[in-house]
Amino acid sequence: MTRAEYLLFKDLIEGASGLNLEDRDWTPLRAALCERVSAVGYGSFGAYYELLRSEEGSRELNRLVDLLTIHETSFFRNRAHFDVLARMVLPELAKRKASSRTLRFWSAGCSTGQEAYSVAMALMEALPGFEDWQLEVLATDISCRALETARAGVYRPRAVKNVDSDILERYFEPHEGSYRVKDQVRQLVRFEHLNLVKEPFPLAALRPLDVIFCENVTIYFKVDSTRRVIRNFFDVLGDGGFLFLGYSESLWQVSSDFALRDYGNAFLYQKLPRSAGPSTVRPSLLPEETGTLPRLPKTPSMRQSAVSGFQPAVPPKQASTLGEATALYGARRFEEALLAVESILAADPAEANAHLLAAKLRADREEIGPALRHCRRTLELDPLAEEAYYLNGILQLRGGDKSKAQESLSWVIYLNPSGHRSALAHFHLAGLHVDGDDRASSVREYRNALRLLERLPKEELVEEFSADFLARVCRRRLEDLEAGG
Ligand SMILES: C[S@@+](CC[C@H](N)C(=O)[O-])C[C@H]1O[C@@H](n2cnc3c(N)ncnc32)[C@H](O)[C@@H]1O
Repeated sequence: MTRAEYLLFKDLIEGASGLNLEDRDWTPLRAALCERVSAVGYGSFGAYYELLRSEEGSRELNRLVDLLTIHETSFFRNRAHFDVLARMVLPELAKRKASSRTLRFWSAGCSTGQEAYSVAMALMEALPGFEDWQLEVLATDISCRALETARAGVYRPRAVKNVDSDILERYFEPHEGSYRVKDQVRQLVRFEHLNLVKEPFPLAALRPLDVIFCENVTIYFKVDSTRRVIRNFFDVLGDGGFLFLGYSESLWQVSSDFALRDYGNAFLYQKLPRSAGPSTVRPSLLPEETGTLPRLPKTPSMRQSAVSGFQPAVPPKQASTLGEATALYGARRFEEALLAVESILAADPAEANAHLLAAKLRADREEIGPALRHCRRTLELDPLAEEAYYLNGILQLRGGDKSKAQESLSWVIYLNPSGHRSALAHFHLAGLHVDGDDRASSVREYRNALRLLERLPKEELVEEFSADFLARVCRRRLEDLEAGG
């Protein structure tokens, strides 16, 4: 396969599925193409490409995407999330929905079904009188093969090895040397084919949902696709609805429409109605008895300034200094800060700290490309700018370039091994290794993060989180990894 052919297929697949193929995906893509080209009896990649682009090619494109998607999953994969679901989310929903007695869940990117069945079992375990409720777990995936397995609901012993014995006994039955999910669980779950990035999104059919699980799916997407998917999630969730994302996924730089809810070992997102600002909405959505209030990012964000009544922008002075621009940024006068920093850079394009401030301001506006360019320029001018490496790493992570993210985060650690940002760099590297299925490296990185976090006062903020919260997350993930979960 030539480079040009690789790029053509990569674009086609990205457009159709949102998957962000990187250069290291060349070999799997080539293998998948060889398999499909020979299965359909075509003689060349070019002819096969034309088939995929044609109207009749959509089924074939699905088959190809099927070979490229990662279907790794397990029952109760993220235990902390299922604990929070049972102990916090369900009691809150049970109260809120007491009159309609209807709850609708969605496992988006359900793979072979374990997540959806786990949700159904959690409902049966934790919702008192669940038989009197109308419960539905919609489970969707782009992969037809994965959905076939999901619908069959039959799993090998290896797949259920981490399921608690009492749950195994209550909700599974022996089936030809394997385990079959019992009918009472299966009847709560409906599997459908759905491509999350395909527009128009079937909004009407899904609305309003109470809880969405979309774990370990967007990590493979380009950031633009993730933003669209999350916007659609926002639209189909009812007010106060919950969104569970995977270990290394977050809404940072993706959406500010959700409140972060911190439950110690796990965090999740809750929908804030779009029309109301967080200051009026959060208390009513977050009853005192459940969870803690969401943390605002330590770095002030432009999106918050729009709702929290900061002073309107006044025209900036022309000849700003970096001190003035930084003060405007600190006072959350972002539009002015941006104009000021631009006037500084117009006068002196080699001012590294102005590029760094511009990078932060652009990142806050979700302008990832320009933010990355300012980071790069900062690092060209000041190769020891640890903060720029950190921001660059996070932006690369959001943009889906895991190898560049890894490189940048490693520089943070190299430059200031005991700094706050190194704790976070280790934390993000651990998440990257989990996704790459390198558990040993992930354990090492979580331990490194924990070592640094434990040296800090508990309440000290490390970016937007307290050191104590991050340390607890690390401990929990280490437990999961060491248990082989
Ligand atoms: C790693 S699995 C995650 C399964 C489960 N959510 C979990 O965390 O255990 C990712 C799943 O996302 C699905 N997926 C990838 N791109 C998708 C898309 N555009 N629309 C729907 N599902 C997609 C894949 O087919 C795969 O089954």
